[in-house]
Amino acid sequence: MADKEGLKVAKNYHIDVPFVNQGNFHVKGANSLDWGMKKHLSNIFDPKSGNTVMFAFDHGYFMGSTAGLERLDIVVPELMEQVDVLMGTRGALRTCIPPQCKKAIALRTSSGSSMLDEDLSHEIVAVDIDDAIRMNADCMAIQTFIGADGQLASIENLSRTINAGLKYSIPTLGVVAVGKDMERTDRFFKLATRIVAEMGAQIIKTYYCDNFEEVVAACPVPIVVAGGKKLPEPEALTLAYRSIQGGAHGVDMGRNIFQSEYPVEMAKAIRKIVHECFTDKEAYEFYLNLIHS
Ligand code: R5P
Repeated sequence: MADKEGLKVAKNYHIDVPFVNQGNFHVKGANSLDWGMKKHLSNIFDPKSGNTVMFAFDHGYFMGSTAGLERLDIVVPELMEQVDVLMGTRGALRTCIPPQCKKAIALRTSSGSSMLDEDLSHEIVAVDIDDAIRMNADCMAIQTFIGADGQLASIENLSRTINAGLKYSIPTLGVVAVGKDMERTDRFFKLATRIVAEMGAQIIKTYYCDNFEEVVAACPVPIVVAGGKKLPEPEALTLAYRSIQGGAHGVDMGRNIFQSEYPVEMAKAIRKIVHECFTDKEAYEFYLNLIHS
């Protein structure tokens, strides 16, 4: 490992230069992967727009039932037509999602803490690759805790999952967690996303921040932006718009969809930004028209 003192802080991100090794495949960093990986990635990222709307309802894995997700069996089927990917636990998917559903599946595979814990950074790989294969998962979502107590264990979880995923051509979605004491700066996200990408994750979920374009430029795989806590609808649409403008290849939103007063309409408006180049203002007008019609 290079000694820390000798390392310079990188400055030239060439944000105006498109990713060089794109080849003829629409997903960043995936040009040299095999057919099976590319098929799963194409189920997730629309080949036309290159982007995705993921709907996260995996909160129960550490929160139990949360506002808006009291009844997964009612909420998720109502929303799933409006999104590209369902991100949930195997328990939620097996019990509440009809198997006839054609949407891509991001299977939550790490877990280990609950809201009752002071430190949420200690997880294990809770779902074997065999079960991910049985569930026809399009990717496996692993939480990573860079800079937290659970960093080493989470990198082990990530590595085990990526190794198994490469064996069976199932992509890994590395989720960059932010602890309550951790900074939400481009400095942190550049570090964390790059570590997770260099470990081999094919997709990264992280948060939007200042200088987001640089975070994207330095990360050789697609980034999807996490929604986070519920915002007023215009602000959530602005978050989605800025993320896409900044080079994200989609959003992975939970509470900003299912806690909205009009979740279906909100998901439709987010879709317009992610896939149809709507601005945040256009998408909000679209949302208002839908709820008043
Ligand atoms: C975070 O990565 C966890 O997977 C969450 O349970 C969930 O995905 C968060 O979604 P949101 O913050 O958009 O409600």
